[in-house]
Amino acid sequence: MSNKVTKAIFPVAGLGTRFLPATKSVPKEIMTLVDRPLIQYAIDEAREAGIEEFIFVTSRGKSALEDYFDNSPALEAELRKKGKTDLLDILGQTDMDSGAIAYIRQHQALGLGHAVWCARRLIGDEPFAVLLPDDVIAADRSCLRQMIEAYENTGGNMVATMAVAPNKISSYGVLDVEEDHGSVVRARGMVEKPDADKAPSNLAVIGRYILRPSVMSHLETIKAGSGGEIQLTDAIAKDTENGEGTFGYRFRGQRFDCGSKSGFLQATVAFGLAREELQDDLRQFLYDVMHLDRAGE
Ligand code: G1P
Repeated sequence: MSNKVTKAIFPVAGLGTRFLPATKSVPKEIMTLVDRPLIQYAIDEAREAGIEEFIFVTSRGKSALEDYFDNSPALEAELRKKGKTDLLDILGQTDMDSGAIAYIRQHQALGLGHAVWCARRLIGDEPFAVLLPDDVIAADRSCLRQMIEAYENTGGNMVATMAVAPNKISSYGVLDVEEDHGSVVRARGMVEKPDADKAPSNLAVIGRYILRPSVMSHLETIKAGSGGEIQLTDAIAKDTENGEGTFGYRFRGQRFDCGSKSGFLQATVAFGLAREELQDDLRQFLYDVMHLDRAGE
């Protein structure tokens, strides 16, 4: 079994109900931060980390997502005719190698763990990454790349982690910490969405994982957990219980919860401010809004 991580699973089957009515016809992963769909941020992060095979677990109503990764010959010809090389370059950045993307359908919404399990035949006997596109992470060095570098020393399973406030902890998978070495934490287990007073730590699992293939086998046998769903957290906990090392990695970067409206808006502002051509106008606008707000107090 090779230890190199070259395959990544992107669970994109969710209904995106928090973004209704938009998600009636637009998959959540196609919603844009500035001018790039959410999914593009996750793909770029994975590419920077050396991922070569991209496995999307989709569901009904996600065809716009599949179309997004197709070439667009008519559009490209039109841009070429008009000499718009800058736009052609932007399009080129989204090109994927033929055969690099695979789509698997999750036929029933049985949870994140089940979605990951749907990709088992494409993963085989190799370690693999999972990226949840809702978690967008702005970082100089991509979060998954940081993790893969750390994983070269630790092996085992690794999840991205960060401290969250006590009133938020029950929305996450939470690490039960055995040893804290700073950027790397060894976990003795993890719990999905515990009650705040029962959370084993304040370290939440953020949507980046490097997992052993044995986690797939546990996904096959574990029972439904939190919310009546097959939970990825439970399969990792089981693997840990069976003696596999499991680590949390405190990444360097800023994470936005784009599964919530507030997180999505914050990410929009942050990515807008990071763009040279937008920052002056946007900063001025934010300043004016704040100023008016205060004047009204
Ligand atoms: C999922 C995982 C959870 C993790 C979270 C990170 O939960 O099940 O363990 O902490 O993503 O965003 P969800 O947000 O899908 O409920």
